[in-house]
Amino acid sequence: MTALRILLTGTGTIGRELLVPLLRASSNRVAVLMRDRRRRSAQQRADALFRELDLTASERARVEVLQGDVTCAGLGLDAAAQVRIIEDVDLIIHTAAATALTADRALCDAVNRAGTANVLGLAERCYTRGRLKRLVHLSTALVAGGGSATLACEDELPATPAHANHYEWSKYEAERIVRAAMHAGLPVTVFRPSMVVGETETGRTRDFNVIYPLMRIMASGYVTRFPADPRARIHLAPLDFVVGAIMRSLDAAWTVGLTFHLTAPDPPTVAQLFDCDAFFPSGVSRPQLYPPAEFDPSACTPRERDLLESVSFCFPYFNSRLSFETRNAGRLVPLPVTDSAYLTRLGRYAVESGYLQRTAG
Ligand SMILES: NC(=O)c1ccc[n+]([C@@H]2O[C@H](COP(=O)([O-])OP(=O)(O)OC[C@H]3O[C@@H](n4cnc5c(N)ncnc54)[C@H](OP(=O)(O)O)[C@@H]3O)[C@@H](O)[C@H]2O)c1
Repeated sequence: MTALRILLTGTGTIGRELLVPLLRASSNRVAVLMRDRRRRSAQQRADALFRELDLTASERARVEVLQGDVTCAGLGLDAAAQVRIIEDVDLIIHTAAATALTADRALCDAVNRAGTANVLGLAERCYTRGRLKRLVHLSTALVAGGGSATLACEDELPATPAHANHYEWSKYEAERIVRAAMHAGLPVTVFRPSMVVGETETGRTRDFNVIYPLMRIMASGYVTRFPADPRARIHLAPLDFVVGAIMRSLDAAWTVGLTFHLTAPDPPTVAQLFDCDAFFPSGVSRPQLYPPAEFDPSACTPRERDLLESVSFCFPYFNSRLSFETRNAGRLVPLPVTDSAYLTRLGRYAVESGYLQRTAG
């Protein structure tokens, strides 16, 4: 890879895991857009992140921290910083987003749709200046709609998706404007991961999101029934596979103008997940699965109802009738196997790291 000058928005689950190979693959320089938050400056937060990621001094020297916010015009950067970006940057990787499935519409709209419009505005100025080679946009497989029953294709957006929440809707709107810019000539690659979980071989993750909070409650022994179709598929993407695919694309010029579903082609079923011993302490009874049409909440205790309510935002993903084309992704990288053995590795890592309890009680 020839050395690039990169603007990276977002240092969450995916952005921060990208930072390391971006710095190690070559003598790339990375400008990282970060917010001040909870009384810590962007620079203080970045310093803590660099320690966590174990960056060397020479790697740190190639990272510039830009205090900014994607919801602001020009990403909240002052005029001088914007000019530097426009004159210098070859590659923009946009991962910043409001990702909570329970986030309200205003937040999702501001960060995901309007924030992406602001990133596009800057990307277009970089491209016009003649330097930008590509914008990598992190979308989501859920633009297809968590409530849809369809085969989602890679190189199109569905016309009438059944979105399950504001996050899905706003990411759809964001991808819509990105695709419009791409069709107007901006060099763009779109990645749509499914639910990003632990690494392929080790199950390692820093963030226990998506399936993990649900499995923690399911493994508590307090829930006796769960509204999920045992045959429904759970669409998972190992974190290292997602990062590897994005990195691989940077050396593959043919990926410009294309969209990639980053997900396993043969996803496990809900039944396989609930059969996976690694998520459940021995002696704890597992919830019985009921297809949603047969689920009777009045048979639950008030405590069970409260617990189920707290994770109701993820019910669509345990009753999914979606499947995903992965033709482009399969050309780019080997697709992951998310079978029972992989689920066991995820569960074991969650137990070993203390996220899930090892024993009952
Ligand atoms: N993780 C998944 O399962 C998954 C699956 C499919 C698609 N994706 C997509 O992949 C991308 C990255 O996801 P992720 O899991 O890495 O997300 P994440 O862990 O929630 O991190 C989101 C990042 O965006 C930043 N951010 C949020 N609002 C911002 C703002 N107004 N200005 C600047 N930065 C802001 C956050 O900064 P703070 O630290 O300041 O909050 C954080 O660094 C997103 O576009 C997401 O939609 C993720």
